[in-house]
Amino acid sequence: MSDRFSFEVLATDGKARRGLVSMPRGAVRTPAFMPVGTAGTVKAMYLDQVRALGSDIILGNTYHLMLRPGAERVARLGGLHDFARWPYPILTDSGGFQVMSLAQLRKLTEKGVTFKSHVDGARYELTPERSIEIQGLLDSDIQMQLDECVALPAEETAIEKAMELSLRWAERCKAAFGDQPGKAMFGIVQGGDRPALRERSAEALKAMSLKGYAVGGLAVGEPQAVMLDMLDVVCPVLPKEKPRYLMGVGTPDDIVKAVMRGIDMFDCVMPTRAGRHGLAYTRRGKINLRNARHAEDPRPLDEESDCTAARDYSRAYLHHLVKSGEALAGMLLTWNNLSYYQSLMQGLRDAIETARLTDHAAALSEGWERGDI
Ligand code: GUN
Repeated sequence: MSDRFSFEVLATDGKARRGLVSMPRGAVRTPAFMPVGTAGTVKAMYLDQVRALGSDIILGNTYHLMLRPGAERVARLGGLHDFARWPYPILTDSGGFQVMSLAQLRKLTEKGVTFKSHVDGARYELTPERSIEIQGLLDSDIQMQLDECVALPAEETAIEKAMELSLRWAERCKAAFGDQPGKAMFGIVQGGDRPALRERSAEALKAMSLKGYAVGGLAVGEPQAVMLDMLDVVCPVLPKEKPRYLMGVGTPDDIVKAVMRGIDMFDCVMPTRAGRHGLAYTRRGKINLRNARHAEDPRPLDEESDCTAARDYSRAYLHHLVKSGEALAGMLLTWNNLSYYQSLMQGLRDAIETARLTDHAAALSEGWERGDI
């Protein structure tokens, strides 16, 4: 296994890339989907199931883990990998985005952000340096810079201010991270829905020679076409030899379209959260198991899947579990959804390797649109 963090593009098809991110705890086949393990758990899943579905890396959250159980406590217990029993790569988000969506009484200054915990009301400060320190205490393999992400729509001046602050915070995070050959710190491109600001952000981060680049501030209220336009602006600016990560995205269709524009890594709560809300992702689109039409349907979600949850349980039973509020409903549907997402990624990797991504993408959307009822 590689003792240095590295990225290799193995094949391309149009702008899409099939690659490998290598680091001491393992390799990540790209395009990759990273299941969200916010609080050191991928909700409703055993991590060995998550692994068996083909996940090479999971995501953890600085914000949640710093509040509970606390980064220093996780470090004393041997780090997040030992604590959660996931010995493979972990990427952690920096906390800024979650502070903005979850914390109370937030105050953002040049120095950082102070806020009141949504758990117990205690006051915390998160600076770029403290975010990197926490991600180090967690022993995260890929750490993210602290950034400011604005919800869209927003005024150009607000978007520009957040983007410029994020660039200054990227420099501070880079300095705080220092030289750690086996790990990486990624910068985050901001700039909202403004092409010129996106370009400036990507150029400035590129000049910092970071080990990878994320695109943030998307899927925050804008139409899909705007997100794709921003990827068309940002991806050509970013260096070809570094991994590109689209944060918090998305639906299967978003993922396919972003891969076709040159994105290598994704994370999203969608498959896990939707699973706990009674929604199943399948080759034939999304199925809402709450719907009464499933009450006597003996068919599984997907008879051709090799996932037990998708193949061996009737829709009638899943409907019953969802309606009864049973924990097993969320477990089976999350399992199905992560299985679907990981098989989607495997299909994209295979299609890029064999240069048939355009046809493959068309076949995927035809399946989602056709449905099966
Ligand atoms: N997750 C989804 N979008 C973002 C973003 O813009 N910044 C960070 N740090 N995390 C995100």
